[in-house]
Amino acid sequence: MSAANLAARAQENTSSADFRRRLRERQQLVTRALDEHFPPGSGPLAAAIREALLADGKRLRPILCLEACAWVGGSVKAALPAACAIEMIHKMTLVHDDLPAMDDAETRNGRPALHKQHGEALAILAGDALLVHAFGLLASTRGVPAERVTVAITRLCQALGTTGLAGGQALDVLSQAEGVTPEKLDHVHTWKTASLFEAALVIGAEVGGAGVSQVSALARYGMLLGRAFQISDDLLDAQDEKGKAEGEVTNYVQLHGVEGARIKLRELLNQAVSALTSVEGGDIQLLAGITELVWERSWTAGEGHHGNDA
Ligand code: IPE
Ligand code: IPE
Ligand code: MG
Ligand code: MG
Repeated sequence: MSAANLAARAQENTSSADFRRRLRERQQLVTRALDEHFPPGSGPLAAAIREALLADGKRLRPILCLEACAWVGGSVKAALPAACAIEMIHKMTLVHDDLPAMDDAETRNGRPALHKQHGEALAILAGDALLVHAFGLLASTRGVPAERVTVAITRLCQALGTTGLAGGQALDVLSQAEGVTPEKLDHVHTWKTASLFEAALVIGAEVGGAGVSQVSALARYGMLLGRAFQISDDLLDAQDEKGKAEGEVTNYVQLHGVEGARIKLRELLNQAVSALTSVEGGDIQLLAGITELVWERSWTAGEGHHGNDA
C-alpha cells in the first residue's frame, strides 16, 4: 500500500473509538506511573516537579516509546520506566525552555510557566532533578538484557547533548540573534525536537528486543515525526492570535509561509508512515494514527491545542 493510502486509512483511524481508547489507555498508564514519583508533601522542590510533570501533557513521547516496544513484540510493562523517563526529560526541557534566559514565556498550556509559580531557582532545579531521576529510572529497567539498557541510556545521552536537544536549543537561541536561515531552522528542529522523538522510539524498541532493521525503521519514523511535530507546533504558534512572549521568534511559518509549512508537514508524515512499512513489525494502527493526529493538530488553533489531547 502506498504512503498516501496508508495516510488516508490512518486519517479514518484517528476518529475511530478503538484508536482513541488505545491512545487514552496509554496516556493514563503513563500519567498514573508518573504520579508515583515525587509524592505530594515532600517539600517545595518536589511540589514544583509534580506541577511540571502532572499538570498537563499529551504524553506523546512516552506513548511512542511504549508503542515502539509493543510493535517489536515486547511487553509494554517493561517499557514503562523508560517511557516515564522520557516524559520527565521532556518536561524538564519545557521548564527550561520557558525560563527568562530562554524563551521568557509567561504561560505553558494556558497555565503560568513553572518559574512564574515557583520562582526561577526552583524551576531550574526542578529541571535538573527531573533529568537525573529520568536516567536513574531508565537504568532501573528490569527484565531486559543489561546491554540493551546500556544502549538505551547511550542513545538518550546522544539525543540530549551538544548534537541533540541542548545543541538545538543553543542554536535556536543564537540563530534568532544572528538571523535564521531555512537550513539553520531545519537543523534546530532536528536537534531540539526530533532527536528526543527518535530516542523515545529507539529506546522502546531496544527494551522490546527489536532487531537492527526494526530499530532503524523506528528511528527514521521518530526523526520524521519529530520534525513534523515541530512544524505543526510552529503552525499553531503562528495562528495564536494572542501571541506569546516569544512572538518575535522566526519560525518555520515565517520562513516558508503557512502553505509551505503544511506541504512539508504532509510530506514528512507520509515518509514517517512509509518508514514503518519497509520492515516486519506488529500492528501499525497507533503509530500511523499518531501521524494523523499531528496533521489534525496543526489545524486546531483556538481549540485548546496546547492541552492534553494528543
Ligand atoms: C511542546 O511539546 C514542545 C515542542 C517540542 C514543540 P508537547 O506539545 O508535546 O508538550 P506537552 O507535554 O503535550 O505539553
Ligand atoms: C520546543 O521549542 C521546546 C523544546 C524542544 C524544548 P519551542 O520553544 O518552539 O516550543 P514551545 O512553543 O515553547 O512549546
Ligand atoms: Mg524555545
Ligand atoms: Mg518555547
